Amino acid sequence: MSFFQVKDLSMIFGGLTALSQVSLEMDQGSIVAVIGPNGAGKTTLFNCITGLYKPSSGSVRFKGREIVGRRPHQIAALGIGRTFQNIELFSKMTTLDNLLLGRHLHMRTGVWSGATFFRRGSRAAKEEIAHRKKVEEIIDFLDLQHARDRFVGGLPYGVQKKVELGRALAMEPELLLLDEPVAGMNLEEKQDLIFWLGDIQAEYGITLLVIEHDMRLVMEVSDQIMVLNYGQPIAYGSPQEVQNHPEVLKAYLGDQAPDADDGGEAAHA
Ligand SMILES: Nc1ncnc2c1ncn2[C@@H]1O[C@H](COP(=O)(O)OP(=O)(O)OP(=O)(O)O)[C@@H](O)[C@H]1O
Ligand SMILES: [Mg+2]
Repeated sequence: MSFFQVKDLSMIFGGLTALSQVSLEMDQGSIVAVIGPNGAGKTTLFNCITGLYKPSSGSVRFKGREIVGRRPHQIAALGIGRTFQNIELFSKMTTLDNLLLGRHLHMRTGVWSGATFFRRGSRAAKEEIAHRKKVEEIIDFLDLQHARDRFVGGLPYGVQKKVELGRALAMEPELLLLDEPVAGMNLEEKQDLIFWLGDIQAEYGITLLVIEHDMRLVMEVSDQIMVLNYGQPIAYGSPQEVQNHPEVLKAYLGDQAPDADDGGEAAHA
């Protein structure tokens, strides 16, 4: 039984085939990247996996369970978290509160019960303390102390992206889907994120499926790369294999294909 498996997944919108027979398989603890030109179907793949879209056909299995047809919150509760291409946070709430909201998925006592019923030493109170501890740990881990008590809406874009990552981590997913995690970040933030992705995998044991245009990041962190073009899977393999795949060079990288020593800087979107 594989940890995570997508099999022959198709998504058709009216006449448009956004995904055609896409398959991929992930081992626990691996990092797989999904790349491809704009409109290739990458986000659609994430939306099908997380239950926002119901695929036209195909199957998605997580730890042996079929998840197609389940509701997004059910899929999240099974342990699949995600971030969005366009940041989806509560902009008038602080970083801390955004992370706590992500965390509340885990709360047996429900999101708002803390506000209404909170005896000292009660189970709800103990849980709240544990959740806050976890959230503070993530704030430290992602170097977000400076943003902790600030409204998310007023933070620079790159920092908001990190807060969104933090919120997804707060849910303690086993599989985390990141839709363009470094888009809009400056070089330093991107480099930091590359380290963090490695740490997320190593320290938290989280399996990562990452959509990314930044070839340097993709080549550096991925175990496997899936390439989509107009909804068609055109290549799937190690960074080396994909990098030298003629169809990939033609469809995606063009003449900007990275060579081994420049790390692919030229291929930035
Ligand atoms: N809800 C929808 N209804 C109709 N068409 C859709 C819907 N969602 C996506 N599409 C179409 O599916 C195709 C794939 O879109 P998708 O957003 O998955 O691409 P992408 O690879 O994520 O692109 P980008 O790199 O620009 O984010 C596009 O042609 C898009 O217009
Ligand atoms: Mg997209």
